[in-house]
Amino acid sequence: MTRPKILAFAGSLRADSYNKKMVKIALEGAKQAGADVTYIDLKDYPLPIYDQEIEDAQGLPENALKLKKLMWEHDGFLIASPEYNSSISGAFKNMIDWTSRQASKEEVYLSCFIDKLVLLMSASPGQLGGLRGLTHVRQIFGNIYSLVLPQQKCIPQADKAFDTNGDLKDAKLKTEVLNLGKKLADFLIQYKKA
Ligand SMILES: Cc1cc2nc3c(=O)[nH]c(=O)nc-3n(C[C@H](O)[C@H](O)[C@H](O)COP(=O)(O)O)c2cc1C
Repeated sequence: MTRPKILAFAGSLRADSYNKKMVKIALEGAKQAGADVTYIDLKDYPLPIYDQEIEDAQGLPENALKLKKLMWEHDGFLIASPEYNSSISGAFKNMIDWTSRQASKEEVYLSCFIDKLVLLMSASPGQLGGLRGLTHVRQIFGNIYSLVLPQQKCIPQADKAFDTNGDLKDAKLKTEVLNLGKKLADFLIQYKKA
């Protein structure tokens, strides 16, 4: 059996991001279930705000090309997305906008999103844990031909949920987050067999 390859990241640039902490726990569940996981920090791939004039004049920025390569190389995405004003963060949407563009005329449009299995989660100091933002992220990925799994988890009051090591204080919640990663790995194993 080929091991599924998962790209894991958070839609936050913040060093102390709750979403980075959350996705790092979920990816351990994916590894335990037999997936190879690559974790990336979007902060390491700075991009200008998408501007079609930049694209027309210079093509895609090097970091957009690096991200597209990573996305092509992986079967699924494990994503923790912060909620900004009831929606997706600007940094994450900008990353999607750049990577959705073709690097060459021959490239199939949206090729790094098509048929990718996506599992979403979020963490926020608010009461809903970022739930409203995830509905937008789910819609975006569905429209660019990714398959978003119905399972998801939102951690409310995230400012109180993690200890100083970045681990979840509540053991039951930690198991639920580990199981999210496992779920994506399990689905990918079945998906690749089919
Ligand atoms: C511009 C902005 C808008 C925000 N809007 C929301 C919101 O609509 N709902 C929410 O629960 N939290 C909101 N927050 C608070 C974020 O959930 C909080 O900053 C969180 O720490 C971001 O995720 P991170 O820890 O992964 O960076 C907002 C924060 C910023 C900076």
